[in-house]
Amino acid sequence: MGRQILQLPDDILRLAELLWRLRPDVVVETGVYEGGSTLLFAALCRLRGDGRVISIDREFRPGVREAVRESAPDRVAFIQGDSASPETAAEVLRLLRPGDRVCVFLDSDHSARHVAAELRHLGPLVTSGCYLIVADSICAELAQCPEGESDWSWNNPGAAVDEFLAAHPEFVRDRPSGPFTTPDFTELSYFPSTWLRRL
Ligand SMILES: C[S@@+](CC[C@H](N)C(=O)[O-])C[C@H]1O[C@@H](n2cnc3c(N)ncnc32)[C@H](O)[C@@H]1O
Repeated sequence: MGRQILQLPDDILRLAELLWRLRPDVVVETGVYEGGSTLLFAALCRLRGDGRVISIDREFRPGVREAVRESAPDRVAFIQGDSASPETAAEVLRLLRPGDRVCVFLDSDHSARHVAAELRHLGPLVTSGCYLIVADSICAELAQCPEGESDWSWNNPGAAVDEFLAAHPEFVRDRPSGPFTTPDFTELSYFPSTWLRRL
């Protein structure tokens, strides 16, 4: 749909299959960048004729909101603000309707502290049977790679998820398997172990 998405193909397919199967009323995402993930979620809503997306970024890049609105009219609400703040979470809550089934996809600032705060404020919005997915949790394994950063070994989304899970037994790690045994699903992922299902 003409917008860059910062995800690997396997993760995109797995997200699409999961959301197609779960059919949540709302996907809340943090981190929009060029709008690729927003359009993925919104396009799935449009295809099934139901559902909406709440997209949060601290600053929207030029043209992103217009491009999303053109491709997916009336499906996406944008919130500009810090995705880790309680005020932003309160704004999301105001946009939810009673009975909404909600999934959350976290892909903004990948520091452990920021993700921990996002989990604290947005995690409770995930409804039973739905997923809380935390992107880029393999940072620790890339700390020593070219362009990696040494503090990624401890300062990463996976560390925040470990802490969150220790205090939240209502969530379990549960990466959905690909529905087909074809090479479509490569297992190559930026976040193989941070698909959390709410019991
Ligand atoms: C990794 S990109 C998002 C990629 C997008 N989800 C995709 O799949 O193509 C991260 C985005 O998070 C945003 N961001 C960084 N820190 C943030 C914060 N504290 N609150 C909200 N958004 C933030 C950046 O502006 C950037 O657009």
